[in-house]
Amino acid sequence: MNPLQQELQRAILTEQHDLRNLVVQDFWRQAFHEMPPTGWLNDPNGLCQFNGVYHLYYQFSPIDVAGGLKYWGHKTSKDLVYFQDEEVFLYPDQPFDLHGVYSGSAFIKDNELHFFYTGNVKLEGDYDYINSGREQNTIHVVSKDGFTITSRKQVLGMADYPPGFSQHIRDPKIVQYKDSFYMILGARTRSDQGDLLVYSSTDLSEWNYQGTLLESNPSLGYMWECPDLFTLNGQDILIISPQGMEAEVDKYQNVYQSGYFLGEMDWQWCRFKQSGHFQELDYGFDFYAPQTFEDEQGRRMMIAWMGLPDIEPNYSNPTVAFGWQHTMTLPRELVFLNGKLYQKPLPAYQQLRRELITRHLTVNGECNDQQLFGEVYELSINIEQLTSFFAVHLREDTEISFHATNGQLCLSHGESGYGRTLRRLALEQLDSLTIFSDRSSLEVFINEGEYVLTSRFYPKPGKDRISFSGEASINICKWDLIKADN
Ligand code: FRU
Repeated sequence: MNPLQQELQRAILTEQHDLRNLVVQDFWRQAFHEMPPTGWLNDPNGLCQFNGVYHLYYQFSPIDVAGGLKYWGHKTSKDLVYFQDEEVFLYPDQPFDLHGVYSGSAFIKDNELHFFYTGNVKLEGDYDYINSGREQNTIHVVSKDGFTITSRKQVLGMADYPPGFSQHIRDPKIVQYKDSFYMILGARTRSDQGDLLVYSSTDLSEWNYQGTLLESNPSLGYMWECPDLFTLNGQDILIISPQGMEAEVDKYQNVYQSGYFLGEMDWQWCRFKQSGHFQELDYGFDFYAPQTFEDEQGRRMMIAWMGLPDIEPNYSNPTVAFGWQHTMTLPRELVFLNGKLYQKPLPAYQQLRRELITRHLTVNGECNDQQLFGEVYELSINIEQLTSFFAVHLREDTEISFHATNGQLCLSHGESGYGRTLRRLALEQLDSLTIFSDRSSLEVFINEGEYVLTSRFYPKPGKDRISFSGEASINICKWDLIKADN
């Protein structure tokens, strides 16, 4: 650590002291989701498992709850359930990243960790910061342990990016094919279309431009952030987070999207031939910038930011008053089955299960059970029979409902949504719901992870009833979830 970093670290720790006192007073502090110790959190970065330890780095503004200058925060875990906060991994302290250590990924080679991230620089002056006034440099960091840095060098700068592109080029992801390495970068063209740049390398240091990965498409917005590419069960899958897509009735309802294409990667030409249209990964209010990695058991894991940029004034987060903002989704395993991408909650989370309540219920109108309540829990509902309408009501004013007649699943919040009102998705049949309720978030897995809705909400303490309405016959299991150190 250099002297500037040491002084920065001391200054941050002092400022964090007061923020920590606020954070501990917050009822909406998460019980089993990862949140920043203080300040602001956004994208997961550098996800990997290295010598048995899971590393979760993330976009972090430790002392600016509104998200100012970005650092890489760091958490580690042995099981993806219990995480430990570590020291900041990357500070924006170099000429190539002075205005933010932006998003990036990790790549393991010869028992060393290679991180690639975007160094954001904004020049002083009268610029639009899209086509002028900005640098987004690509930086390579080597580490032998994930905590200390052996080298940190710029490998690409503005002069290395092709003509026709704006200065928004970021979020490198590395993929290996045979003996070559490929870097994919999210980009915005000068004509305001999203695109992906591909570079190749044989040593992770020298990178050569190969072209664009995908045919760009004006209906997919003006900028594609956070690309990810992997093969699952023989299927190539490309993830992007596009900005600027038009909303439809039951699609693309958030300010920005995150989704994927199925297709086939042609490594000879560095082109991804999509075989289907863009599909959203999540239908809730708060899901963005997902990143995946393969763990040592060969599982494809995904974590996303449970939040979105530029949401105000439509909705807000009351935790800002308590010195922190945003959280990560639960880690999910991606599974490709029968032509579909499923997201599965990790079985490891079952260790948090405490008291179990099971019921077989015949719902006919309103259905209340005095024993069914809670704030931090997992609720699994299997539908035996459903006529036309079925709804689950939980916490202060949240409803998850299924309308069989028009094939629509809805998630709605009242006041507790702080501006979040209604999200819907087209669904032919509802077989099951698995709901993870934390103090200020909800993840709803539909039909064993065929669809997911992820949302922040802020119900008042003690508003904890779980009830049902409609006409259905259901089996439920509900577990309180408790983390041992909570
Ligand atoms: C996505 C994103 C990335 C960028 C980072 C900055 O949320 O905008 O494109 O690298 O956040 O924090």
